[in-house]
Amino acid sequence: MNSDAGFRYIGGRLHCNDVSADEIAERFGTPCYLYSAGLLRERYCRIRDAFARWDGLVCFSVKSLSNLATLRLLAQWGSGFDVVSGGELYRVLEAGGDPSKTVFAGVGKTAAEIEYALRTGVRMLNVESGEELRAIDRLARGLGRRATVAIRVNPDIDPETHEKTTTGKKENKFGVSIAGSRRLAAEAASLSGVELRGLHVHLGSPIYSPEPYVHALEKISRLCTELRAGGCRMETVNIGGGYCISYTGEDVPGPEDYAASLQVLLEKLDCQVIIEPGRYLAGPSGLLLVRVLYRKESEDGKIFVVCDGGMNDLLRPSLYGAFHRVWPAHSPGGMPRVMRAEDRHYSGFRTELVDVVGPVCESGDFFAKDRPLPPVKGGALLAIFDAGAYGFTMSSNYNSRPRPPEVVVDSSEVFLARRRETYEDLLRAERQGP
Ligand code: LLP
Repeated sequence: MNSDAGFRYIGGRLHCNDVSADEIAERFGTPCYLYSAGLLRERYCRIRDAFARWDGLVCFSVKSLSNLATLRLLAQWGSGFDVVSGGELYRVLEAGGDPSKTVFAGVGKTAAEIEYALRTGVRMLNVESGEELRAIDRLARGLGRRATVAIRVNPDIDPETHEKTTTGKKENKFGVSIAGSRRLAAEAASLSGVELRGLHVHLGSPIYSPEPYVHALEKISRLCTELRAGGCRMETVNIGGGYCISYTGEDVPGPEDYAASLQVLLEKLDCQVIIEPGRYLAGPSGLLLVRVLYRKESEDGKIFVVCDGGMNDLLRPSLYGAFHRVWPAHSPGGMPRVMRAEDRHYSGFRTELVDVVGPVCESGDFFAKDRPLPPVKGGALLAIFDAGAYGFTMSSNYNSRPRPPEVVVDSSEVFLARRRETYEDLLRAERQGP
């Protein structure tokens, strides 16, 4: 394993492994997503090993980072995949992912998506309603198959995260209540096109404590025991994703902490355990490099650092008010270990309070607000950290801005996972006729 993997300052310059951010920006331009394959691998191995003793299967959550190069690497390392659309399944298969290690979730799978999943032989479809169960049964019988399914349980537990990313409370659209799951299991037993083999739960994301998982697993375990007593063969429990990362640099629970808290319950269950991490693997493994275009000071002294990347490239600050560390790629003293939203200065660094914004025509287009940053001018290179998960995958062409490239550094090898879009790419699907 490459212990130099990841992002750090060497001689006052930001590096990804041993390649400088300057070199990347020069070669590929900005804005640009930059990922460390070594760090991704370290994180993959760490979470896999934490759950290994329960025959754990890591199903990487493709929605967090989905370029083919990354999926290919994960597939080579043995990872499975969590997909929520036909498009994600297509990506996994194109990347050489193993369908028998792929699980398919989502409240709104279309008939075409269900048939596609059944034809390719995905391991499991996570069912989220009675109507969906009957649709899967009908479509599977039509194909002369039996679909392996898990019930996605909504345990009504608050994971204490952002309301937009909370999924396991009863008012959320996801999953079925415990009572509803019992009914669904009984119905599944009467259908010849489906085989119920597991339970699935995903509480939300990110979750900063193992507690909600423990509560959810207590409920799931009781249900599992009940269903087994009723004659159902329960082979798998999928405890979802949501494992946190530290956006501030402060200490947060790691995979071993979640695993330790769940140990007793998982041991009793005697099932294969599936976990679906996305953010934990991809988040810290990637950052967004942007170039400062202008430093703009208003009459009342407010400073805007205007960059060439914007909310169309990284939506999380605008959409969730999410905090990402932002720091210049040239910094003689490196960067502060911890940066928090409420900080007004960092000891040992000369800073000024600024808004780091993009060129998009909305006031919601920002990466950071009232943030201490060393004074920078037009031309400076900035890194927006922990942007590997839900960064590129949530990017758009808003304001007709071509999306940025995705560059991967693997040891000292640099390769382009996705090229920068061109103006012509913007119009490709609109060109009609020959
Ligand atoms: N499994 C299921 C069924 C999910 O819905 C999700 C995420 C995951 C696993 C992976 O969660 P993770 O380990 O990455 O936390 N766009 C938001 C996050 C939305 C998460 C949606 N579901 C963000 O940028 O924070």
